[in-house]
Amino acid sequence: MPISKPFQRWVAGCLLSALSAAAIAQAAQPHVVVLATGGTIAGAGASAANSATYAAAKVPVEKLLAGLPELSQVAKVTGEQVFQIASESFTNAHLLQLAQRVSALAKQADVDGIVVTHGTDTLEETAYFLNLVVRSSKPIVVVGSMRPGTALSADGALNLYDAVSVAASKDSAGKGVLVTMNDEIQSGRDVSKTINIKTEAFKSQWGPLGMVVEGKNYWFRAPVKRHTTQSEFNIDEIQALPAVDIVYGYGNMNTTGIEAYGKAGVKALVHAGTGNGSVAAQAVDALKALRAQGVQVVRAARVPDGFVLRNAEQPDDKYDWVVAHDLRPQKARILAMVALTKTRDSKELQRIFWEY
Ligand code: DGL
Repeated sequence: MPISKPFQRWVAGCLLSALSAAAIAQAAQPHVVVLATGGTIAGAGASAANSATYAAAKVPVEKLLAGLPELSQVAKVTGEQVFQIASESFTNAHLLQLAQRVSALAKQADVDGIVVTHGTDTLEETAYFLNLVVRSSKPIVVVGSMRPGTALSADGALNLYDAVSVAASKDSAGKGVLVTMNDEIQSGRDVSKTINIKTEAFKSQWGPLGMVVEGKNYWFRAPVKRHTTQSEFNIDEIQALPAVDIVYGYGNMNTTGIEAYGKAGVKALVHAGTGNGSVAAQAVDALKALRAQGVQVVRAARVPDGFVLRNAEQPDDKYDWVVAHDLRPQKARILAMVALTKTRDSKELQRIFWEY
């Protein structure tokens, strides 16, 4: 029995309205750009049993996104392969190039959020750098994984889904650069990799900002230190980063490293001291000599938690040294580099360490 014209028109109308509803929904979806840099989240192992033995930085961003069709439920996602490297090999040049790309995308009206996929080894340094120099309140989320996608119970897919979901959420705006790992939403400033072979690797002594579960954010605190739009630093005004290195404190400490960095022309030296940033007696004069040459000395601690008290273990006022506050040495290095693009004054440097 032929189908009547009116019925055909009714069916076509229903199809058109369904399609246009889907098109409207798609068009209304936030646009999240995924900037891929490599790491384990792009890693591949020889077998599913290889959860810790694998090659990082192998899978291209297109394949990462194609392997997660669920992303289309939370955002319109586009990808760019910025680098394809293991993050222990990040350099200042990589940091600058990535931050410039993030900043440019954040300025685009058609971009609502940005995700950076990254190796976990130096993820905390990149996240803090972006937190300091990208002047945008749009969500910027850095994400990695502890296991390659080829492994049993791989964590990368859910971490990436969470990152895109957080980056697509309006309530993620204005909280500084975020890190999503293991269902938690961490502050890019506070978080560090604290365990080297477990999926719950990323911790902050001040706790996560919240959690993300099935695409919904649950917030429990907000950052109090200056970041992004509140920052006095701007990647658009930074063409190069000064040399800042780190020496580690330990029993039987000597001055070889301190003197070598002085000769190499560092602009600041972070001293990762024992306890509350203690400096061995035999190393004090070498650090004072560096300061006399105009090198800034930043007293941090090799002890992961707590914060370094000014004038406690050392007379910082007398020596004109700076204390790293609660920042771990690797983060103190990032802040010292950024701060030195603006000032060479140690009192200004200390203010910056209190505020960021
Ligand atoms: N090579 C390490 C890196 O790229 C692998 C660690 C990881 O990404 O989880 O940071």
